[in-house]
Amino acid sequence: MQRRSVLRTLLAAGLLMSGAALATAQETVKIGLILPMTGPFASTGKQIEAAVKLYMAENGDTVAGKKIEIILKDDTNVADITKRLAQELVVNDGVKFLAGFGLTPLALAAAPVSAQAKVPQIVMAAGTSIITERSPYIVRTSFTVPQKASVMGSWAAKNGIGKAFSIVADFAPGHDAEKWFKDGFSKAGGQILGEARVPMANPDFAPFLQRAADAKPDAIFVFVPSGQGATFAKQYVERGLDKSGIKLIATGDLPDDDILNGFGDAALGLISADPYSTAHPSAKNQAYVAAFKKANPSLRPNFMSVGGYDGMHLIYETLKKTNGATDGDALIAAMKGMAFESPRGPISIDPATRDIIQNVYLRKVEKKDGELYNIEFATMEAVKDPDKASR
Ligand code: PHB
Repeated sequence: MQRRSVLRTLLAAGLLMSGAALATAQETVKIGLILPMTGPFASTGKQIEAAVKLYMAENGDTVAGKKIEIILKDDTNVADITKRLAQELVVNDGVKFLAGFGLTPLALAAAPVSAQAKVPQIVMAAGTSIITERSPYIVRTSFTVPQKASVMGSWAAKNGIGKAFSIVADFAPGHDAEKWFKDGFSKAGGQILGEARVPMANPDFAPFLQRAADAKPDAIFVFVPSGQGATFAKQYVERGLDKSGIKLIATGDLPDDDILNGFGDAALGLISADPYSTAHPSAKNQAYVAAFKKANPSLRPNFMSVGGYDGMHLIYETLKKTNGATDGDALIAAMKGMAFESPRGPISIDPATRDIIQNVYLRKVEKKDGELYNIEFATMEAVKDPDKASR
C-alpha cells in the first residue's frame, strides 16, 4: 500500500493520534510507587503518598519535557508481593523509577529487580544500613537507623546517662539500632546493662520493660518502627515507667510526629535523635507543614513523609540534569552528589554509597499550643551512615 493511502485509511478509521497526543504518550516517565497502604504499617504508606502528591501539586507533573505519572501499588507489607509488583511495574508498565519501600524486608525484596533491570530504586522509608549495598541502582532519601542511634548513644553518655538498657524491635533495623546505640554510648563512656529484642508481630513490650526496670538503668533506649510507637507508649505507662525516674530515650521512630499527640503527657521530656521534626523551625519546613496539613487535615507530616517529598525532588532534579534521558546508569550518575534543602534541613546523596547525608537533631518532647512536639535543641551536622563508614 502506498504511504498516502495508509494515511487515508488510518484517518478514516480515526486511528491516527494527533502529533501532540503522540508526543505526550511517548514522553511519559512512569514511577512505580510501592508502599504498605494497608496493615500495621499503613501510616508509612499514607504519609509518603501524601508527600508525593503534595510535591507534584506544588511542582507540576511535567519535568524536562516529560510527563510524570505515578503508579501506586499496595504491597500490604509482604516482601514477596513487593518483589512481584516491582517486576510487573518494570516489565509490563515500563516504569523508569521504582520508589517507596516502607520497611527493610520490602526494600531488600525489590533490590534484585532494580539491579537486573538497571532501574533506579528510590528508598523513601526503610532504614537498615545494608539496603543500598544490595543493588547499585538504589539511592536512599529516608535515613539510616545507625545515623540516628549512634547520635543518640553518644549524646546520652555525654549528658549524664551512665547506664542504659536497650529495647529494639527484632528485625534488621532494630539490630542496627542496638549495635549503633551501643557503639555511640560506650565510646563516650556509657555502660549497657542489658539488651532485649521484641518480636515484630503483635509486640508485647511488657516483659521486656520489666527486665529493663529491674536492671535499674539511668535510661531505657528504644527503637520501634514507625507504626508501633503507640503500643509501646501504652504499655510503658501501664507499667508505671513514666513515674519510675528512669529516662526514656529513643530514635525519632518512637515519638513519631504522626501519632505523638496520642501518647499523652507521659511523653513529655522524652529525648530522641532524628533528622526530621514537624517542629523544625526553618521557613521551608513551616511552608511544608502548612501545605501538608491543608491537603491532609487528619495527618501531621512525619519523618517518613519527607523521605517521599525529597525522593520526588531528587527524581525531578535528576531528570532536569539528564535532560529527560531515562537510562538507568545516567540517572544514577546524576543523582550521586546531589544536594538540596529539604524541610528537614540540608541533605545530599553520598556519591560513594548512594546513601543520604543529613543533620541529626536531638529533640525533647514539649507541649506547645496544646499539642506535643519534638523540639530540637542540638544538631549533629551532615551525618553519614556510620555503619558503612565502619566497613
Ligand atoms: C525499616 O524497616 O527499615 C524501618 C521501618 C520503620 C522505621 C524505621 C526503619 O521507623
